[in-house]
Amino acid sequence: VSGAELFRVEEKDAREALPKRRADSHKGTYGHVLVVAGSPGKTGAAAMVALSALRSGAGLVTVATRPEALPWVMAHSPEIMGIPLPGEGPLGKGDLEALKAALEGKDALVMGPGIPRGPETGALIGDLLASVEVPAVLDADALNAVAEDLKVLREAKGPVVLTPHPGEMARLWGRTTKDVQAHRVGVALNLATSLNCTVVLKGSRTLIAEAGGRVFINPTGNAGMATGGTGDVLSGVCGALLAQGIPLPKAAWTAVYAHGLAGDLMAQQRGLMGLIATDLLVGLGHVWTRWA
Ligand code: APR
Ligand code: MG
Repeated sequence: VSGAELFRVEEKDAREALPKRRADSHKGTYGHVLVVAGSPGKTGAAAMVALSALRSGAGLVTVATRPEALPWVMAHSPEIMGIPLPGEGPLGKGDLEALKAALEGKDALVMGPGIPRGPETGALIGDLLASVEVPAVLDADALNAVAEDLKVLREAKGPVVLTPHPGEMARLWGRTTKDVQAHRVGVALNLATSLNCTVVLKGSRTLIAEAGGRVFINPTGNAGMATGGTGDVLSGVCGALLAQGIPLPKAAWTAVYAHGLAGDLMAQQRGLMGLIATDLLVGLGHVWTRWA
């Protein structure tokens, strides 16, 4: 692809990107992640994002979701804090003020896994990103929502990373999944450049494209990770690294490498057939101890 500079993510680079845990640090040092995720029937998605962020060094993690989903999310773990988003049904413009308030004092936003999506969800995301400066990870249905009108991302004040799988990328790009897979490098780079954000195109050999230039290829991960929820875990790792002050695109390629390595280490215990998304939360612990 013309204009693309390709780099392979190396373990030593990902390891060096991690923040040091200073002896005199406190939870404020490591940032507070706001997770906007989950709905009835998809409360596990929100819990996996939150737990993944907690297991990736974030000082605090709060989940904002509809009141009927919130207790089920929080019951997964006592470390998870919660903010109810009053109302019901799809997220829309009526949720803007509550989300702006929820973002006060937060260091990163992860939005999308399991959210209730409706006709106004894309506009809400655009308005929210235009009114706050925090770094943001958009995943899953947040991507499907903005795909309806990509212009909403143009006004974002803070750095943004999009984490589509090939099907989500097809919706963002307006082509088929097959076309995406046939032109992975070009598609990721073009979207990153046209929206001025970082794009993580997931799947075997995940690509990380920065606006206007470099594309990183990730060597870790395996087919055992083709199981529901592993993408939610990745968005949590990425949010936690952003909250700890790692800039984009470094936070993205470090998160992708660590997430894939967590899958590789856990596949040795579970097998490719037995691996499930929450195993990656254990695997992340193996990665951090290996890199300490
Ligand atoms: N090799 C390496 N990595 C893989 C492989 C593979 N063969 N298969 C999957 N992965 C990794 C991807 O790179 C990505 O990091 O697992 C993760 C899967 O993420 P998603 O595709 O987003 O899957 P997930 O979020 O778990 O799916 C749950 O998301 O988009 C929605 O509707 C979709 O219900 C689904 C939900
Ligand atoms: Mg997903």
